Amino acid sequence: MSENPVAPFLDRVILGDVLEVLRQLPDECIDISVTSPPYNKGENKKGWLVTSVRYDGASDKRAEEEYQAWQVEVLDEIWRATKPGGSLFYNHKLRWEQGVLYHPYAWVSRSRWVVRQEIIWDRMIAANIRGWRFWQVDERIYWLYKPDPGQPLPRALIGRELKPRHALLTSIWRFPPEREQPHPAPFPLALPLRAIYAVLDDEKEKVVLDPFCGSGTTLVAAKILGHHYIGIDISPTYVRWAEERLERWERELPAAHEEMALHVVRKTFAERKREGAFTGRYGPRRIVPAGEDEDAPSQLALWEEDEEGPSQLTLW
Ligand SMILES: C[S@@+](CC[C@H](N)C(=O)[O-])C[C@H]1O[C@@H](n2cnc3c(N)ncnc32)[C@H](O)[C@@H]1O
Repeated sequence: MSENPVAPFLDRVILGDVLEVLRQLPDECIDISVTSPPYNKGENKKGWLVTSVRYDGASDKRAEEEYQAWQVEVLDEIWRATKPGGSLFYNHKLRWEQGVLYHPYAWVSRSRWVVRQEIIWDRMIAANIRGWRFWQVDERIYWLYKPDPGQPLPRALIGRELKPRHALLTSIWRFPPEREQPHPAPFPLALPLRAIYAVLDDEKEKVVLDPFCGSGTTLVAAKILGHHYIGIDISPTYVRWAEERLERWERELPAAHEEMALHVVRKTFAERKREGAFTGRYGPRRIVPAGEDEDAPSQLALWEEDEEGPSQLTLW
């Protein structure tokens, strides 16, 4: 029997340049990726709270056009290696240089991926504080989807619905930045864990990729959830840190369980509706659009949980 072509890459943190390693991966072997590339922040010191991010093995300073073209190439290479119906969660942020806004959607939309959702990551704090604008504490996470022509429409284009226990977490993810890792720009464990758990739910032994894996946060999340991982980073120091972290993965179980405990439906929408309570996440209150009759139906989309079959959206 021939070996699965992805087998030689599984459960490894690979030292190398992102594109060189990605090009070695077989077609359509990845189920889900979660990643945060270098942001091209220029390595300038920009405010008194800032310790500028400097990576061990790579410069974070390129001409903007060259940077964006590189990112599109990386996104498309991940697309090639991803199975139809697979996902990529791509974390980036809005940047301003000399008054010009560089929005990640600009190059994400030039890649082959379908944008399934733009999620706001509310970090609650950020190092860079200057008065040119309101203190920017948010980042973006693009949930990108590779359509599956083997499925009937519209599922071919938009994929499976999330289970309500995941979908109820909303499109604003609030996690403080990670402070425990020595890496200069890690994301918190909860971020990749939420993405992988929401999409793969209780499935096991899928293949999770992080092509800019740094300290290995995505890889630890994958391992905790029972999946295989593939990590890539250009820095030998970060590869070593990621490997050491993976050896001690059990230490991160409490943080993982804290995140997983949020993925619950305490009461189904059907039950709440029956009791006349507002079915939203934040408790019993009735939302009435301004100027409208209290008894008039509001346009709230309610998710009916159905034990038997797929969930469905209903308008109230
Ligand atoms: C934002 S950090 C990722 C941090 C990671 N999410 C974590 O939680 O630790 C970006 C990473 O990309 C790596 N990197 C930069 N250029 C690279 C390249 N050409 N190929 C592979 N990795 C690269 C850096 O070494 C850095 O660790």
